[in-house]
Amino acid sequence: MPVAEFMVRPARTGDAQEMAEIFAAVAAERDGIATEPPVDVGERAAQFARGAASSVVAEAGGQIIGMLHVEVSRHGFGEFGMLVVRGWRGRGVGSALVRAAIDWARGQELHKLCLEVFPHNTAAIAMYRRLGFAEEGRRVKQYRRASGELWDSIVMGLLL
Ligand SMILES: CC(C)(COP(=O)(O)OP(=O)(O)OC[C@H]1O[C@@H](n2cnc3c(N)ncnc32)[C@H](O)[C@@H]1OP(=O)(O)O)[C@@H](O)C(=O)NCCC(=O)NCCS
Repeated sequence: MPVAEFMVRPARTGDAQEMAEIFAAVAAERDGIATEPPVDVGERAAQFARGAASSVVAEAGGQIIGMLHVEVSRHGFGEFGMLVVRGWRGRGVGSALVRAAIDWARGQELHKLCLEVFPHNTAAIAMYRRLGFAEEGRRVKQYRRASGELWDSIVMGLLL
């Protein structure tokens, strides 16, 4: 089987528009990330440009195929959100992004990385566990969806 070729690197402000476009595509799945349509791509691009210094992206064939942004708290932890475009999932891109974020966070002397994940997102939960994250709790009916459903989230964390 051919090895999928991709690279993970720090994000640049010039990536922001593409990042916003893949973010909007994953939001339209209404499944893994909290944001749902409509996504204002221009506004997101501006936000991702501002956050580029604490983001990593995965690139293949000159296109952005995945991204991870760490929101750094002034209390020493970082909370991240991430996504991989549908056609590239299950090929190690997500794991590579998280590993890069862990290295980056250590370099920033953060003491902890954490995230929230929906309980039905079993592939993501398995990936985070495999990378050392522990489940720390459950936020009950935390997210109101466009459908009106209220979804729990699981909080996971990794001490660095
Ligand atoms: C969660 C997500 C980032 C994982 O990225 P990824 O590139 O698929 O991650 P990896 O390939 O490194 O690992 C995923 C795990 O799921 C397994 N998997 C198998 N088939 C899969 C599939 N069709 N899709 C996704 N994962 C699959 C992989 O095998 C792997 O586990 P393993 O290494 O033990 O076999 C990605 O699925 C995604 O972007 N989902 C939508 C957005 C989202 O849920 N973001 C996270 C919010 S907390």
